[in-house]
Amino acid sequence: MIQITYGDDFQKHSKYRRESLGGKTLDWENKPPLYKKYPSELERFELSKPQPSGGLPFFSVLQERRSERNFSGAVISEKTFSQILWAVQGISLANEYHQFRTAPSAGGLFPIETYCVINQVEGFEPGIYHYQVPYHSLVLIRSGSFGTELARAALSQKMVRDSAFNLVWSAMIERSKWKYEQRAYRYIYLDAGHIGQNAALAAVACGLGSCQIGAFFDEEINAIIDVDGSTETVVYMTAIGVVS
Ligand SMILES: Cc1cc2nc3c(=O)[nH]c(=O)nc-3n(C[C@H](O)[C@H](O)[C@H](O)COP(=O)(O)O)c2cc1C
Repeated sequence: MIQITYGDDFQKHSKYRRESLGGKTLDWENKPPLYKKYPSELERFELSKPQPSGGLPFFSVLQERRSERNFSGAVISEKTFSQILWAVQGISLANEYHQFRTAPSAGGLFPIETYCVINQVEGFEPGIYHYQVPYHSLVLIRSGSFGTELARAALSQKMVRDSAFNLVWSAMIERSKWKYEQRAYRYIYLDAGHIGQNAALAAVACGLGSCQIGAFFDEEINAIIDVDGSTETVVYMTAIGVVS
């Protein structure tokens, strides 16, 4: 029997070792862009201004957070939706040179992109949207009800269909590899974990529930969000909604 060891090999070969670290210069001229852009003819939606305060107190949020898998399918307000997106990946500090977000990112490279598959959010038709971080807005990629299809691709987990919306996170691999090479994959998954936790805590702070999702057929999700699965590929998901 052939033993598959890709994971073990990756763990072994992506370790930093004193004898082999250093000597690399960064190719600044070919630094990948930090933000994904879509054609200007696609429809855009401004989100309401997020509040950097409010919600349940932080330690109560930690105490209350649980993975919730039963959602009522109820509609949620645009204000809550906007607040959660900001908590997930919004800009919390900007200066002349950098824009920092609510979640940390290795090297400030922010390789994770956020897609929203909306089922029931006030003011939005169901569809697949991309979160445009610098503008706190959404671009509509495809309209239609994709909850059932997305749930099927997530190993038929029905919470994906019953949620108010789902967040799908992809990784732009080169954005991180440009600096970290093979070790980039470690950081990409760590980045996604931080983002997922922000989503979970923000949902509770806003009176909603969430469940983080790592079980899905990758290529089926990639097809739904229209990414190629190699330069950009899904890494993580979260379903958010009104708990029933
Ligand atoms: C990386 C990751 C992937 C997960 N994937 C799924 C999933 O696909 N489906 C699911 O129902 N729960 C999933 N969960 C939720 C875990 O089952 C849950 O966090 C765990 O049972 C602990 O329960 P708690 O979150 O309520 O504390 C995932 C959690 C993490 C962190």
